[in-house]
Amino acid sequence: MKHIAILGHGVVGTGCARMLTENRERISALVGEDVSLKYILDIRDLPDSPWADRIVHDFAVILNDPEVSVIAEVIGGAHPAFDFAAAALKAGKHVVTSNKECVSRFGAELTGMAAANGVTYRFEASCGGGIPLIRPILSDLAANRIDGIDGILNGTTNYILTRMCRDGSSFEAALAEAQQKGYAERDPSADVEGIDARRKINILCGCATGVLHNDEDIPTEGIAAVRTADVTAAGLAGYAVKLLGRMTGGFLLVAPHLIPFDCPLSHTDGVFNAALLHGNFVGDVMLYGRGAGADATASAVVGDMVAALRGDSGCVTFAHGAALPDFGAFTCPRYLSVGAEDAAALLALVPGAKTIEPPVGEFACITPPLSEDAVRVLRQKVSLRAALRVREA
Ligand SMILES: NC(=O)c1ccc[n+]([C@@H]2O[C@H](COP(=O)([O-])OP(=O)(O)OC[C@H]3O[C@@H](n4cnc5c(N)ncnc54)[C@H](OP(=O)(O)O)[C@@H]3O)[C@@H](O)[C@H]2O)c1
Repeated sequence: MKHIAILGHGVVGTGCARMLTENRERISALVGEDVSLKYILDIRDLPDSPWADRIVHDFAVILNDPEVSVIAEVIGGAHPAFDFAAAALKAGKHVVTSNKECVSRFGAELTGMAAANGVTYRFEASCGGGIPLIRPILSDLAANRIDGIDGILNGTTNYILTRMCRDGSSFEAALAEAQQKGYAERDPSADVEGIDARRKINILCGCATGVLHNDEDIPTEGIAAVRTADVTAAGLAGYAVKLLGRMTGGFLLVAPHLIPFDCPLSHTDGVFNAALLHGNFVGDVMLYGRGAGADATASAVVGDMVAALRGDSGCVTFAHGAALPDFGAFTCPRYLSVGAEDAAALLALVPGAKTIEPPVGEFACITPPLSEDAVRVLRQKVSLRAALRVREA
């Protein structure tokens, strides 16, 4: 018999408990032994839980039980999640998690502790919910040099941008609707400001390169400043606007981008997530699915439990990253919009820009590739109303 514990009886923890219960026979067959959920740790009592008899409030009960070999940390946040995971790894227990904050911040320490103690720290659910993203990078595509990752990694922002694009909703109205439908938190700042996507692109880049960066060093722009008029103009010109986490040409960034309709990422709508990976031999690979939700996320967490119990290989031990390259040199085409009175000045400053149908009373164009530094200089010379990056197909 293999015994498992779940830390946190929230959305993901409940999904995991349900999957372990409903699919117990299948999971046990995969592992080759009966797999049993022994404990759920939570701070609340939860007497109505179907697993009320397994709820404990003291982590030491789980840590000191030699029967527990795998712990799922699905509490979220930095502490005590890190402390519980570290103690479990040091006690020789495998840890699996959906907690991107913990992986992004402490992944180097935690994967190092796992390796030192002969166990594993797995985190498939931390990026893209139920979409297999990490295992493909670490296993199936491992022989490639992964030189590009473009991910729609946050369902809340993708839902908001999809509503703005399809129905002309304002950012505020689309956010309120996302909150009402339970897709956005009451405090949506981590999603809207790109912080959630930043943690995820850091982890995916770490899996591709073995190096995790300090996620606060990753240039990040959220979607709050994206105007419905720009999303509409982009649509008329053949682009969707999406918040992308990107690893490209040595740079890491999170920012809203125009994506041409002939790129499959542009059709990832609503709360769905997707990542387009580029390997130097395989070429483009796109993975698509549900980036959040109890069931989809449980699928990845419980998949990691099975991998840990079976002793599957293909884990990463992260190193701490060196400084990221100077972002001023990052170059891509831009969607620029200015007041109609500034059109001639803008065209004189950006030769080769292609004029598109603008927002009312404005002038808009798609430019040839411009560096971040060049756009900064441009802002000093002309008042830009929008300056969104364009991901080339
Ligand atoms: N929800 C998703 O669809 C999803 C998808 C992918 C990844 N994730 C990640 O998965 C993690 C969990 O998310 P979630 O949505 O399941 O969060 P959640 O619903 O808030 O669940 C967390 C649970 O942990 C409990 N908890 C808080 N502090 C604790 C402590 N010290 N000891 C024991 N239990 C404690 C919470 O209790 P209280 O409610 O009383 O505070 C809550 O029941 C987060 O890192 C999140 O980013 C979530």
